[in-house]
Amino acid sequence: MPKTQRLSAPAAVVTGAGRGIGRGIVLALVREGFDVVGIDLVFEPGNRKAGLFEVKARVEELGGRFLPVAGDISRIDDHDRLLDAAVGVCGRIDLLVNNAGVSPLKRVDVLETSPESYDRLLAVNARGPFFLTQNAARRMAAQKPRRSRPGPAIVFITSISAAVSSTSRAEYCVSKAALSMTATVFADALAPKGIAVYEVRPGVIATDMTAGVKDKYDRLIAGGLVPQGRWGAPGDVGRAVAALARGDFGYSTGAAIEVSGGMNIRRL
Ligand SMILES: NC(=O)c1ccc[n+]([C@@H]2O[C@H](COP(=O)([O-])OP(=O)(O)OC[C@H]3O[C@@H](n4cnc5c(N)ncnc54)[C@H](O)[C@@H]3O)[C@@H](O)[C@H]2O)c1
Repeated sequence: MPKTQRLSAPAAVVTGAGRGIGRGIVLALVREGFDVVGIDLVFEPGNRKAGLFEVKARVEELGGRFLPVAGDISRIDDHDRLLDAAVGVCGRIDLLVNNAGVSPLKRVDVLETSPESYDRLLAVNARGPFFLTQNAARRMAAQKPRRSRPGPAIVFITSISAAVSSTSRAEYCVSKAALSMTATVFADALAPKGIAVYEVRPGVIATDMTAGVKDKYDRLIAGGLVPQGRWGAPGDVGRAVAALARGDFGYSTGAAIEVSGGMNIRRL
């Protein structure tokens, strides 16, 4: 994205933008007219088949603008550089989407969960987004409001696991519950400043994260796990984020929206 123009286009920062749900969110926001700064741990300028530079090429096909930035959101001392890059190019930040997250390297029973895996999950899935949000919110609060758009917004991609137990990945569930409360606390604190905060809880979405358990979930979905009867796609989550970004839920700060094909329905 050249350093010049379109200061009038709204600017979004999306973490974990190189693949999966993050990619789906980027494309939905570009269709909504956002310039997007995409942060990811994996940064391979020579790779146009996958990752941030594939996303950049796809965004440009759509006529949009995308700045790939290398970064690890668990490194809090690097957050200023990441957000400075966004402000340097776009002039401001209208939307932050905390999407980057990891699952345990190995699924084990809760009685075997290691402190190392627990710390890794909490660092990436909860601690990093907490402080990135704090940093971005300070900047949003100091920005001149736009007249023609809804106020700034922050979206947290948590999971149904924020509220649903999986005994083979306890540390993931705990990290997403922590992230869910992070969304709630920031929604409360930032409402008077005109910054809306939302939580989006995906269900079972077909990405690299779930590729290793595809057969298991194919069976469970065939057996009725998901009322709407199919895997979710990154675009399902992307469109929900785009609706929030548009301001369609402007009087609903603090809301948690499930994108899970109805897994939120308690059934007998
Ligand atoms: N796939 C699902 O079924 C599902 C369900 C509910 C919630 N989620 C959540 O949605 C988010 C995206 O999941 P996904 O399925 O697209 O995962 P994914 O593994 O396919 O993609 C995650 C992306 O985030 C990047 N990333 C990981 N750690 C990072 C870090 N420390 N800093 C910057 N970037 C980092 C990865 O490089 C990758 O590009 C995660 O927070 C995940 O927990 C996924």
